[in-house]
Amino acid sequence: MKPRTPSVLFRGGYGFQYPWKRQALRRFANNTSFSTRKRASSLSTRWNTVSTSQRTPSTWTPSHTQTRCMASASSLPQVLINDMANQEVIVDFNTGTAVRYPSFWLRDHCPCAECQHPSTHQRQLDTFTIDPEIKVSSVRSTPSGLEVSWPATTDIPDTGSSATHTSVYPWEWLETHPPFIQASNKTPSPTRQTAQRTWAHVPPSAAPDNLPRVSYDAIMNTPDTDGLKHFLQNIHTYGLCFMPETPATPEATQSLIERIAHIRATHYGGFWDFTSEVNPIDTAYTNDPLPPHTDTTYFTDPAGLQLFHLLSHTSSRDPGKPGKGGESTFVDGFAAAAYLHKHFPQHYHALATYPITSAALGSPAGAFLNTNASLHGYPVLNHSSPTGRVSSPSPTMLVQIRWNNLDRFAPMTPSFPNHTALKSWYAAAREWARILESPEFLLTVKLQPGEPVIFDNWRVLHGRLGFEGKRRVCGAYTGMDDFRARCRSLGIEA
Ligand SMILES: [Fe+2]
Ligand SMILES: [Zn+2]
Repeated sequence: MKPRTPSVLFRGGYGFQYPWKRQALRRFANNTSFSTRKRASSLSTRWNTVSTSQRTPSTWTPSHTQTRCMASASSLPQVLINDMANQEVIVDFNTGTAVRYPSFWLRDHCPCAECQHPSTHQRQLDTFTIDPEIKVSSVRSTPSGLEVSWPATTDIPDTGSSATHTSVYPWEWLETHPPFIQASNKTPSPTRQTAQRTWAHVPPSAAPDNLPRVSYDAIMNTPDTDGLKHFLQNIHTYGLCFMPETPATPEATQSLIERIAHIRATHYGGFWDFTSEVNPIDTAYTNDPLPPHTDTTYFTDPAGLQLFHLLSHTSSRDPGKPGKGGESTFVDGFAAAAYLHKHFPQHYHALATYPITSAALGSPAGAFLNTNASLHGYPVLNHSSPTGRVSSPSPTMLVQIRWNNLDRFAPMTPSFPNHTALKSWYAAAREWARILESPEFLLTVKLQPGEPVIFDNWRVLHGRLGFEGKRRVCGAYTGMDDFRARCRSLGIEA
């Protein structure tokens, strides 16, 4: 970001002698931010008057606590108030939004090398030694950021001495770290919200020849990590990757996932290796078809990646012959959600809104519910925003899909406010299920021994067609945070 240098109007220690100031402060009290463009008609004329010296002495009388500086007259309008009464500094970023920063919060987040360790970036300042009623002494705009001077303190340990302190908050940091929830259409600098992941849809027509693939040897090669990077990048971009030329053994399969991170243990075990059987604990262990779903919807933190490898599939009539059916299905949930949003926005909204509870009830180890289940569960479409609030969910903020209709169960606390909402959710779920199994989205692949697949369980839904015969499949999960950490350690933005 090219730093803008907000010009500054600093005012300190004033009372409420001017009606327009009272109006402004009331607005600040009621809103964490407000539109400076909207404000133009009522207030910015006044501010401009104030900041361009056209103000007459009769409307503005500096006191000894008031200073004023204009860092750059050309970058107007940029207004900053040191509101001592409310212990807030208010910054106008010239983006149509002014943002309030409480004095205490600013002091607590001082980025200087004394307050924040220069390499670990951990807080070195003891938050609880800061005066809860701390006020800013003076503040000014500088090209490198907002410079705040703090009053002398007398509680420097062991010395009894007092010292003032100066903090400089880079503009970009300030603008992207508003301390309060911003109104959705007034979020500072939306273009610099956390970059949305770049992703690409692998259409069903890509199967079987044009799927993302990286060979076992390329992934496992050390110390050269090019193959590994390509592999991780594929998972990040496409949501899945196949790994040809893998030895058809559990050991080789396990080494692949451990190349990324340690295995995430669940009630199914760590690395699993199973054969279709009777009396299963989960439909995955039968030979019934499985509709597209994500795994572990009932976890507070659902499994991030899942890798699996079909080790063998033989006919039950003639073990020397291959079994029939059992094709794996994959659906890029981000692509499906974008389609849903475009064509059925009301359905998208319903799936993004109503919390759904899920559980794994068949396990001999006991029922598994997410820890929030008894409270509220989670929507099918989960969103995230740097502002901490998503008032209007859309695919650009979609981070996680939780969808397994087989595991959905009636919550202990209701999900829906009324019958209309309940019907709207079922209508949305019906359309969603239809889209997932439509030819535009349902990627079908007959897995082969020697070519395992890994996919992003927060994005890609997986399923399986019914089959005849005996299948042996092995695999494992790894956590999403662990995957991302591995990506970042290799310079891949994830
Ligand atoms: Fe599954
Ligand atoms: Zn500091």
